[in-house]
Amino acid sequence: KKITIAIDGFSSCGKSTMAKDLAKKLGYVYVDTGAMYRAVTLYAMRNGLFNADGSVKTADLERQMNKINITFKLNKTAERPDTYLNNELVENDIRTLEVSNHVSQIAAVPFIREAMVAQQQRMGKDKGVVMDGRDIGTTVFPEAELKVFVTASAEVRAQRRYDELKEKGMPADFNDILKNVQERDYIDSHREVSPLRKAPDAIELDNSHMTITEQSAWLMELVKQ
Ligand code: C5P
Repeated sequence: KKITIAIDGFSSCGKSTMAKDLAKKLGYVYVDTGAMYRAVTLYAMRNGLFNADGSVKTADLERQMNKINITFKLNKTAERPDTYLNNELVENDIRTLEVSNHVSQIAAVPFIREAMVAQQQRMGKDKGVVMDGRDIGTTVFPEAELKVFVTASAEVRAQRRYDELKEKGMPADFNDILKNVQERDYIDSHREVSPLRKAPDAIELDNSHMTITEQSAWLMELVKQ
């Protein structure tokens, strides 16, 4: 019987790698909810919807919400679904540090969360889904059969994001990334609407000292139980 699996945790803790891998093994759909907030952020950046101080022009953005269409499409070669913003492939554009530096402001806006959560619930309504994010176990699917909350030290997470960007040939500076990770941790866990926190029934995993293989094995054991 297919179930719903919620993987939440802090920025760049390796959630998506674990979630993607698990979805592949189970033949489930993988949904990267962070990519959705990133796509809205990219739209807002391109359309002048940020003030100089980094805050969001919420009234303008709210009027344009119906112009933002986020979809995922499986790429022939890619292991993961690619993110599309209004039918344009934006998978790399949403991973830049500039987007990372603005995304938590976008994710704190209540009407944006409402729209994203509704879309995520539609995507997962048939179960058989591994969804990764910040509020999946608490808000999107509080009834998920399996919830995992992933943590790791900020330094370890910054190093992972750094390695990931380097691997893709994208510009990366370790200290800038560390600062970004710490700022997002703060904003994500202090916002008013569905702040980042562990669901009471989530199983916590600190993967600071685990390899991807170890994490995947650990997760697979949980699923079998
Ligand atoms: O997972 P990722 O680092 O790509 O997420 C980017 C940002 O999107 C997070 O820092 C957070 O502000 C926001 N987010 C969220 N809720 C989710 C997923 C992501 O608020 N479910």
